Amino acid sequence: MTGRLTEFASHTEPSAGSADFRALELRLVESYSKVAKQYRRDDALEVNSENHRRLGGNLKRLSGSFGRDIQALDAGCGTGRYFHCLKNVHKLVGVDISSEMLQAATDPISKHEISVSDIQLLQDNIYTVVLPNGSFDLVYSLGMFGHGAPLTLEVCRKFYDLLCPGGRLYFNVLETPKSRPLARTKEWLKKSAYPLLPQGVRRKLEARASVLPCFTMTLPRLEELMNASGFSDFALSINVCRTPLWQGIHLECMATKFGRR
Ligand SMILES: C[S@@+](CC[C@H](N)C(=O)[O-])C[C@H]1O[C@@H](n2cnc3c(N)ncnc32)[C@H](O)[C@@H]1O
Repeated sequence: MTGRLTEFASHTEPSAGSADFRALELRLVESYSKVAKQYRRDDALEVNSENHRRLGGNLKRLSGSFGRDIQALDAGCGTGRYFHCLKNVHKLVGVDISSEMLQAATDPISKHEISVSDIQLLQDNIYTVVLPNGSFDLVYSLGMFGHGAPLTLEVCRKFYDLLCPGGRLYFNVLETPKSRPLARTKEWLKKSAYPLLPQGVRRKLEARASVLPCFTMTLPRLEELMNASGFSDFALSINVCRTPLWQGIHLECMATKFGRR
């Protein structure tokens, strides 16, 4: 994450199509349009971090494990920070809600190392974008869930549907902070009181804060979501992330869609 984009309190998820959903879309577009150029400059710092090496290494192993040409989806691709980590990918679809982030992704970091032959960048919302089911061998999403983007059962099911049998999923999501009791109580209070406020008051508060709401996740909840989403084979882990740009805890998920292609 670049800059202070996130308001750190877990919020309830707006349902697709609602006024809150539309308002969140606008805030995402506005927030990322402001930071896109800086985010792209920060790619140079981030690619040398241990965090990037670990995530990129996982992506390289996952994509390389197919041993044949594959199609991949990068959900919330941003500036294309992970494009250079992919192996075997002949077609990559990068979906992002921000046209400025996508513009930056046309000239991604380490572009001379990119082996993907066809990169299609699509400005759309990952919750509502329409893509052909069963058309991807690999779906990944790094750094998107949490900052203005809730991980929902619907989106997990969508990833399941988009994958072909034998396809792999890899994503991370911000963990709900649990170490500091005061932070936890504050977060609980905000989470319970916030949805009770009238919509107009919430909008005013959000506009004043001009930051993105934070949607965090606990490990048991993530397990529940994955169990309900169709994936029977998945592994979850907790990872402390320390980079020059951001520090926090991510939950990570690697899953395989059952079946043979
Ligand atoms: C923190 S950046 C991560 C970008 C990239 N994956 C990376 O690791 O550098 C999050 C990205 O997700 C995008 N994003 C957030 N919510 C989205 C949504 N609902 N649909 C599509 N893109 C979204 C933002 O525009 C932003 O580019």
